[in-house]
Amino acid sequence: MPSLIIDGKEITADPGEKILWAALRSGIYIPHLCATEEAELPFGGCRLCLVEVEVGGRREMVAACSEPVREKMKVYIQTEKLTKMRQTAFELIMSDHHIDCKNCAKRKECQLIRIASSLKMPLQPKRLRSLARDLPIDDSHPLFTNDPRKCVKCGKCVLVCQGLGESFLDFVDRGFEMVVSTFDHLPLGSAGCESCLEFVKVCPTGALYFKETGGMKDEQKISNP
Ligand code: SF4
Ligand code: SF4
Ligand code: FES
Repeated sequence: MPSLIIDGKEITADPGEKILWAALRSGIYIPHLCATEEAELPFGGCRLCLVEVEVGGRREMVAACSEPVREKMKVYIQTEKLTKMRQTAFELIMSDHHIDCKNCAKRKECQLIRIASSLKMPLQPKRLRSLARDLPIDDSHPLFTNDPRKCVKCGKCVLVCQGLGESFLDFVDRGFEMVVSTFDHLPLGSAGCESCLEFVKVCPTGALYFKETGGMKDEQKISNP
């Protein structure tokens, strides 16, 4: 079993395991949003899991969710440079986020709240103005709701949906307009996703949630066609 040293603490990892999952299993928290343990190629878009690794006496910055552990590698997660980079990445993510925790179904398990706390930051960006868009909530499915205003484009739902051989979900439109949706923007209630609903479970924010958990407001819903 390979071992690695994170900020001076030695831990073990499974062969081929990525730094992020080895750290989390050992109780060391590294902020992360878009990582999926089962994915061979993680989405790698959030840049919150950046760490420094020592290679040949020099430090390199890598994404902990995609970098495999090597025997005795030294990893640094708490440097000033990394903290600043993570804070900037987090502010960018939150500048496009509709912050309404009081009415959010995920407020007790939200990964954004956990990340903000670990970075000692407020959810609301201080340096960037809000670019949150007023997008309609899709309430057309009987079991779950999609609130795109709370989507952070982590790609986990798309990855899980497509990894299961389904193709209901994808990123549609480009750049700032990009959203997770179905082809032709069909409401999710008529897109055919009825079986596993795994993609709802993996959403780290209040963008996808089961109706039984509540948190829904009546405004802006798309009704079942
Ligand atoms: S997803 Fe919900 S709980 Fe999390 S920050 Fe956004 S509004 Fe708050
Ligand atoms: S809906 Fe959730 S899982 Fe999917 S990209 Fe948005 S935040 Fe990520
Ligand atoms: S969790 Fe590694 S880049 Fe997002």
